[in-house]
Amino acid sequence: MQTRRDWNMMLSNRRGTLAAALCLACAIVFAAPQTIKPGEVWPDDHGNHIQAHGGGIVKLGDTFYWFGEDRGGLGASGDYGACYGAICCNMTRCAPWSDPSKRYVACYSSKDLAHWTFRNQVLKQGDPGDLGPRFVLERPKVFYNAKTRKYVMYMHIDDARYALARVGVAVSDTVDGDYQYLKSFRPLGQESRDIGQFIDDDGSAYLIFEDRPAKGFHIAKLSDDYLTVEKDVCLIHAPLEGGAVVRYQGLYYALGSALTGWNPNPNKYATASRLEGPWSEFQDIAPPEANTYGSQSTMLLKVAGSKATTVIFMGDIWKPRTQWDSRYLWMPVEIGGGKMRLPEPKEWTLDVETGVAAIAK
Ligand code: GAL
Repeated sequence: MQTRRDWNMMLSNRRGTLAAALCLACAIVFAAPQTIKPGEVWPDDHGNHIQAHGGGIVKLGDTFYWFGEDRGGLGASGDYGACYGAICCNMTRCAPWSDPSKRYVACYSSKDLAHWTFRNQVLKQGDPGDLGPRFVLERPKVFYNAKTRKYVMYMHIDDARYALARVGVAVSDTVDGDYQYLKSFRPLGQESRDIGQFIDDDGSAYLIFEDRPAKGFHIAKLSDDYLTVEKDVCLIHAPLEGGAVVRYQGLYYALGSALTGWNPNPNKYATASRLEGPWSEFQDIAPPEANTYGSQSTMLLKVAGSKATTVIFMGDIWKPRTQWDSRYLWMPVEIGGGKMRLPEPKEWTLDVETGVAAIAK
């Protein structure tokens, strides 16, 4: 059976001639500063819109790896019109066939955070329990454990009614290998829906998880091998999901979105000098009427360069009926002195060496 790689290669060959003709244009585009365009289709190295929704990023050496929900296949929603080998087409697009009984996680790599190379569908997960055909696998996050040299993926595992509220754990020996699903559980015995990840400056790894009955979200330390959640560091009493944490100039900033499903809402942040708290009151990250410019938080990524440290708000602009077409809103935030502001989305560039971000005028 053809894989997505085969399909991509086929497409690449066909596009060969066109690519040669456009070579000059390409050279100009890729020599230009690394532009990030919030809200637009974000093509990978094969020209396919990146499938890393609800994602997270881990940096290894000088390479960033982006993991997220791959909603790109046709078949998963049963909406394909006709399939030709491994490729299915409906009224709007052709895409690799994906097994409707599985959920997929994709991995991409980049050195500049703007150009992304598709690496692998690192997880192709069938029903991991008795959850039924509409089971949920969302918001995968990968941690690298230097002691065990394993890559450990956490994800939200649920049934169709979101009643199970567990995390799933999968592992791999390589960052973009085929992850092996191990288990699911409720972290610290608590309900867990949206998850986030945070690596502190000392390398400690934390899972962030939303706990509906407690009306808040936890920041919890992972065990030494990262295979379980060991200790509750803090339960922040605010009904927020899409949780993210960053440490900037000695202060922790926690961010989250209100509980409005796929619909955007004004995301909010609070600060604390210790992860344990106390945390400040939550404040809007952008004018509330902007509804976070249509997006929902998934991560705060810190890029520390030789001249500056930039914190990137990573958000998803969800399109619930055409999930594969959901977009990404990444913007450098204005941060410092206990304040964090998400500027109006515009094209911007980032120099990962210097850490300097520049937003188009
Ligand atoms: C959102 C959540 C998403 C997804 C969605 C389903 O609140 O952030 O990851 O679970 O609900 O409605």
